[in-house]
Amino acid sequence: MSISEENLPYKEKIELKSWPNSTDIDSYRKMHGKSLENIEEHWANVAKELDWFKPWDKVLVADPQPPFYKWFVGGKLNASYLAVDRHANTWRRNKLAIIWEGEPTDSSGNPLEVRKLTYYDLYREVNRLAYAIRSKLGLRKGDTVTIYLPMIPELPILMLALARLGVIFSVVFSGFSAQALADRVMDAKSKVIFTADAFWRRGKVVRLKEVVDEALKGIQFVEKVVVFRRMGLKDTPMVNGRDIWWDELLSDVPMNTYVKPEEIESEHPLYILYTSGTTGKPKGIVHDTGGYMTLLHATMKWVFDIKDTDVYWCTADIGWVTGHSYIVFGPLMEGVTEVMYEGAPDYPTPDRWWRIVERYGVTILYTSPTAIRTFMRYGDDWVKGHDFSTIRILHSVGEPINPEAWKWAWKWLGRGSVPFGSTWWMTETGGILISHAPGLALIPLKPGTNGLPLPGIDADVVDDEGKPVQGKRGYLVIKKPWPGMLMTIWGDPNRYIQVYWSRFPGMYYAGDWAIKDEDGYIWVLGRADEVIKVSGHRLGTYEIESALVSHKAVAESAVVGVPDPVRGEVPVAFVVLKSGVNPSQELVKELRNWVRTAIGPIAEPANIVFVSKLPKTRSGKIMRRLLKQVLMKQPLGDTTTLEDETSIDEAKKAYEELA
Ligand code: WTA
Repeated sequence: MSISEENLPYKEKIELKSWPNSTDIDSYRKMHGKSLENIEEHWANVAKELDWFKPWDKVLVADPQPPFYKWFVGGKLNASYLAVDRHANTWRRNKLAIIWEGEPTDSSGNPLEVRKLTYYDLYREVNRLAYAIRSKLGLRKGDTVTIYLPMIPELPILMLALARLGVIFSVVFSGFSAQALADRVMDAKSKVIFTADAFWRRGKVVRLKEVVDEALKGIQFVEKVVVFRRMGLKDTPMVNGRDIWWDELLSDVPMNTYVKPEEIESEHPLYILYTSGTTGKPKGIVHDTGGYMTLLHATMKWVFDIKDTDVYWCTADIGWVTGHSYIVFGPLMEGVTEVMYEGAPDYPTPDRWWRIVERYGVTILYTSPTAIRTFMRYGDDWVKGHDFSTIRILHSVGEPINPEAWKWAWKWLGRGSVPFGSTWWMTETGGILISHAPGLALIPLKPGTNGLPLPGIDADVVDDEGKPVQGKRGYLVIKKPWPGMLMTIWGDPNRYIQVYWSRFPGMYYAGDWAIKDEDGYIWVLGRADEVIKVSGHRLGTYEIESALVSHKAVAESAVVGVPDPVRGEVPVAFVVLKSGVNPSQELVKELRNWVRTAIGPIAEPANIVFVSKLPKTRSGKIMRRLLKQVLMKQPLGDTTTLEDETSIDEAKKAYEELA
């Protein structure tokens, strides 16, 4: 059962009294309240723990005015320096930074490819690549590039090399299509693209370079495409003068090359990451350097309780924000040993992950509800007998975790004894804002909750008027700026104001429904807008609709997310065909494929329902809410604004016939 207002296990509290930082709710709230009295002082105390080339003059400046905020203004630092130089110059030099496993295994399930990089290796690779990027590609601070790479160590190495130079990068998830890639390349105006020939996914070769070629067909301004040989395919197409092999770029760069990290202003953009909203194309979320790294440092300590003896594994893909913050910049800044895995979670068998946990003795596991539900479905036999005794902290992210999935993971992976939270945050927030904090002060667990806001985070739940509500569904807001918050939307500052700061004046609007319970714990229920989460991946229903109407047979479409027991939500499309076009099973197949090609496999509609008209208001707005209720077989509620009642009856009938 998914979590909803009616079925929250509010009262079920689990106290881990033997945990060193265990505390009660009142003490935590007192500490939290104190942190909010002076957020500048609070965050400055965290930021002090980073290495700055030049200290800041002002902690927080509204520039030019709210809601544009700048953190640690006047300060200079470098994210690449924090993640590699700091460790390569200390005893951590020979400590493992990344343990990477490729997907292929031998017949007994042992990985065929494992790469282990120490902090010194990482330092060397980052420096060499930064040198090549600057001297051979001519990239400089403030330039923008696009990265389209799979889960291989070259991805973090590249991100750190670019950060070293102040080159702003946009990583595009390797599961996105050519069209999605093209949109993002165009919006960021990247002159250089970094990619790979191919990678492994579920035993299949995914040829990435071809996707890049397809994406660049209509784009003139891209000057160079750098290609990493992940598979060493012999037949990778290379465009003369434009494409260059990664190894050739590095071939004459000496091992001991050093590139002095640029002294980057705190508010200089580190990266752009595109994410879906209610309308329009994905927005380029811009993150700064100083504030972002400060929030990551705080959360690595508070939420993950990171220690030098840990083996940390965040199972996300770096193509999404979780990977940016909690595979690349957060853990490496802390000098952690971390695991990185290329392939599918259940390949070749559903215990692939548990073998990885055992092989490296993973102590901290950060994963997603959808992964947990997938493993639950495979059954207990696949977890039984595996050794989880090393795991000391579990966390989940990406969507609400239903209490059943929480309990299953806690019992098996957490052996009924470790801290386990559901960390709430978004691409826009940069890092975790609401979460249990076992590294700081651990309050009682409740299966499925997000817990209390972290110190310095003024999160609340409000009603339509912006007034706080408790015990009732409302909107999640953040009432004070925080370091790590997005700076703006790339190239569209007005949209930044309109999307996040206009719903409730003076408050950041997250776009989530949430409930605050009697203890003040926050339970995020899901999106309050047209965004859906498919297997934790964020998609806009609007993007899927746009893809559908670009097909020659489609006149109109409305897409809604419906609950799915494993994937959380899946898109279902209502489609009005152009006159003269007849619905058929072939057309359903074709349209589903069309969306896959336009956006990527994750966006493929689970169902396509043909109707002759869509439910609309008198002013012509599609009433997706009603369609969702049809799909969920719920009472429709208020339909007075509906222009034509028969549209809903038809949708109902069409859906029932389908089922
Ligand atoms: C949802 C992912 C409930 C939420 C880091 C948010 C969650 C959206 C949780 C952002 C959680 C993320 N519990 N819901 N622990 N974490 N969400 O930008 O709806 O991909 O608004 O960032 O994911 O998704 P995004």
